[in-house]
Amino acid sequence: VVVMYVKYGVDDDTKGTTKNLKTIVIERCREYIRAVSQMPSSNNCDAIWEGFQNSFLGKDPCKVNVEDYDPFIRTVQQDIPCNKSLFWSKTSQIAHDFTKATKCFMTLEDTLLGHMMDGLKWCGQLHSKEFNYTSCPGWNECEFNPVRSFWRRASAHFAELACGSVMVMLNGSIDSPFNKQSIFGSVEIKKFDPEKISYVSIRVIDSLQDRTSCNSISLQDLGRILNNSRLDFDCKDIDKSEILQCINDPISQSCDCVN
Ligand code: APR
Repeated sequence: VVVMYVKYGVDDDTKGTTKNLKTIVIERCREYIRAVSQMPSSNNCDAIWEGFQNSFLGKDPCKVNVEDYDPFIRTVQQDIPCNKSLFWSKTSQIAHDFTKATKCFMTLEDTLLGHMMDGLKWCGQLHSKEFNYTSCPGWNECEFNPVRSFWRRASAHFAELACGSVMVMLNGSIDSPFNKQSIFGSVEIKKFDPEKISYVSIRVIDSLQDRTSCNSISLQDLGRILNNSRLDFDCKDIDKSEILQCINDPISQSCDCVN
């Protein structure tokens, strides 16, 4: 019951820092470490919280750099197994439902770092060591706001750690399933290391049958970028119903991690 409250009881209406941010983050951290065996014992949730708040407290909430989170990122230790990383863009719901149901892959939000901060808001203020619970910049209000810089930093880290075969889940129901301005298109893909990543499986999810997004201009862009980085890949248009069926019945034969 406590876990449900912490994870889903977040007050999303606030314009400022999420109420009880510290309790939520530390509880999520402890719960994650309890639930996931093989977590390095070096993780200390109090130290992780300290590192987190030191990244942005006392700073102008429009001048928090991506690099300001570097020391914090180093306080979190987690090995990401090869062949398990799933990247997504405009497919948040289905991608996360999929990883939770099947355990085939993990998203950034399934890692300790992403899990702790998922859905939360935070900012500090200049010349003060307090959180601002009244007002924080929105995602697009200024580029270097604390939340956006955090997700860029965490995403870069997650992409740097990826190895083996990785999966990318894109949304075929929009004009540009691959968007160079998205975090996937602007941060993660640039961090893919061809020495470590052997294959990129692009899966474009669409509720309309016989749409062929893999041939679209947008996916050709993505293909060029992967070719230039000497990364092997394939692209498949996948019916949304196939993924939904997999989420509802993960042990069925047809749900083979969407190969
Ligand atoms: N306002 C608030 N949040 C936003 C906004 C916005 N305008 N734009 C993006 N976000 C945040 C939200 O948390 C949203 O769920 O980024 C998330 C993903 O945005 P998308 O546009 O769907 O996808 P993308 O930008 O490509 O980011 C997803 O980055 O976080 C990593 O590993 C993750 O591969 C994934 C990718």
